[in-house]
Amino acid sequence: MIKKGGLRMLDVAGVSHSFGHKKVLSNISFRIEKGSVLGLVGVNGAGKTTIIRLAVGLIKLSEGTIRVNGYSLEDNPREYQSKIGAVLEGKQNLYPRMSVLENLKYFACLRKMKKCNIKDRIEELESDLAIKAFMNKEVYALSNGMQQKAAIACSLIHEPELIFLDEPTLGLDYEAANLIHQYLLKLRKKGKSILITSHDFNFLNNVVDSALFLEDGQIRCIQNFKDIDLENERVNYKVVISGVHHFDHDCIISKQITDNYTELILECDKNTGLSDILRIFSDEKVISLEKKETTIKDIYLNMIGEQKNAK
Ligand SMILES: Nc1ncnc2c1ncn2[C@@H]1O[C@H](COP(=O)(O)OP(=O)(O)OP(=O)(O)O)[C@@H](O)[C@H]1O
Ligand SMILES: [Mg+2]
Repeated sequence: MIKKGGLRMLDVAGVSHSFGHKKVLSNISFRIEKGSVLGLVGVNGAGKTTIIRLAVGLIKLSEGTIRVNGYSLEDNPREYQSKIGAVLEGKQNLYPRMSVLENLKYFACLRKMKKCNIKDRIEELESDLAIKAFMNKEVYALSNGMQQKAAIACSLIHEPELIFLDEPTLGLDYEAANLIHQYLLKLRKKGKSILITSHDFNFLNNVVDSALFLEDGQIRCIQNFKDIDLENERVNYKVVISGVHHFDHDCIISKQITDNYTELILECDKNTGLSDILRIFSDEKVISLEKKETTIKDIYLNMIGEQKNAK
């Protein structure tokens, strides 16, 4: 779905998972084509990390299949693992009493990299992730942001084709988050495939090609953001109306009400013009009306709004 006719890097089909009696994932299927970035979006506990842990083999798959570049972990673990790299939520995989450089060398050996390539690769990561200044410091003495950058470097030392990033900018300051953002764009340019979770929607909006919205362990929708105008016969408008209104109309996909005004996002047929919209609100005082690209935040707010209404 993400890029037509591309090579499939990740293929998740019919995956369900339970912890004890609690079902946390139900019939999850999606794909990531080579060179695409997929954002995994959902509230706390929706099942995002569980999908990543299943995909990297930290939890045993009991229902469904997960293939990386055509290989399953069961049939060909070596090929599968050589293609992937993962930075997991909140937990750094680094050895705290070793320096960043020693950690990088250790992970390079673990990934069976050729000795002659290791030095160049480390230099590349030093510059891309701005970690040169603390390469010789022991990991335990580094700040959270420094550790996160070092963890990313170690996870990607072998230049994996498919990268899993679980909240990579969590707790990072603006500069560090921006650096990781820029690095992701560089990885995408290089043709890497990426699955990323984050609660930072501005960050996601800038890096993903598509987003999968997860609700209580089920796929709510998969939205393509890159080819949105070509693929969708729909167009979005943002309308701000004076006063508090509880409009109910088929085309309203999100509603935000403050003390003084009501902001609506409408999803309409692409032939709908501004005058058609103004006609819908002809009895109201329209403060502003603009054509708007759908954002991850719009869909997320709509999803959690509907969830609350259903309860
Ligand atoms: N090891 C475990 N044992 C039992 N239940 C678990 C375990 N890991 C996760 N869960 C449960 O599975 C569900 C999904 O958790 P998961 O960590 O995948 O959510 P998430 O979408 O990553 O949330 P967050 O945004 O908070 O990181 C939650 O209800 C959680 O309590
Ligand atoms: Mg999580």
